[in-house]
Amino acid sequence: MPRIFIFVGLILLLCLLLPPAVIARVRSTPNSNLPIHIIQDMAFQSKYKTQAVNPMFADGNTMRPPVINAVARGETYLDAHLYDGVIDSQWANVLPSQVAMNFETLRRGQERYEIYCSVCHGISGGGNGIVNQRAMELVANTNGPVNGTVWVQAKNLVHDELVTVQPMGQLFNTITYGIRNMAGYGSQIPTEDRWAIAAYVKALQRSQIAQPSDVPAGTKVADGAPATPVDLSPRDVVNNAPAIPVSTSVTNPANAEGKL
Ligand code: HEC
Repeated sequence: MPRIFIFVGLILLLCLLLPPAVIARVRSTPNSNLPIHIIQDMAFQSKYKTQAVNPMFADGNTMRPPVINAVARGETYLDAHLYDGVIDSQWANVLPSQVAMNFETLRRGQERYEIYCSVCHGISGGGNGIVNQRAMELVANTNGPVNGTVWVQAKNLVHDELVTVQPMGQLFNTITYGIRNMAGYGSQIPTEDRWAIAAYVKALQRSQIAQPSDVPAGTKVADGAPATPVDLSPRDVVNNAPAIPVSTSVTNPANAEGKL
């Protein structure tokens, strides 16, 4: 075999190494150009981007508003009792069938009340939660309200006749949609939890007008019970609380005692 064949053969073999070397080099070099797409994928189809002008619609918007009166899946709020607290145009006095009246519900209501409502209405419902106290301080400032603060006293939920006579459905409605200067919590607190809070507010009211005759016959009522209910606000609770030892544990002590 002539030597030239061996020589050409070797050159060709060396040439075979070129493509992998070029690929390796390109892959490891940053490049701001788009990769070459031999087969175009869906990202490259012609389309209008969200904020782009769209000549197809009279208002020129690409993003379309929802069709008027369209109802999203799972969002038909037709049950007036469950969603508005109303039965036959009257405030409901009972929980809707979806929420059971039991200790669990009241516990849940207490927990949610203390998270969402107590800041203004107080832990015991007296209307003097920590936010209310602070706002009143700012408003009562002798040189005029600090930073122009405007505040309406949060209602006393347990002693104010305006509230205590209200059926549970009305409380639920207030929590859901708000009232006058109080904002609604419908978008923050799920429906069942709002009912649990309404039920708990009723229990809170009842607990503060308890009479000795409320306890079963034969049970001794402790002497020296305060004639008027003690209305502890979070600030009193904090001020009177024993010092909490600093701990690295993230466990809430109230949780350990089963209070949450
Ligand atoms: C940011 C403070 C604030 C929070 C939080 C708050 N409220 Fe209120 N609430 C008020 C104020 C202020 C009023 C009085 C509004 C007025 O008279 O204009 C009020 C009024 C009320 C009333 C009286 C309604 C009536 O018919 O007059 C009820 C009942 C009530 N709140 C329940 C709740 C419940 C339950 C929660 C928790 C889900 C809650 N509030 C959370 C500030 C608050």
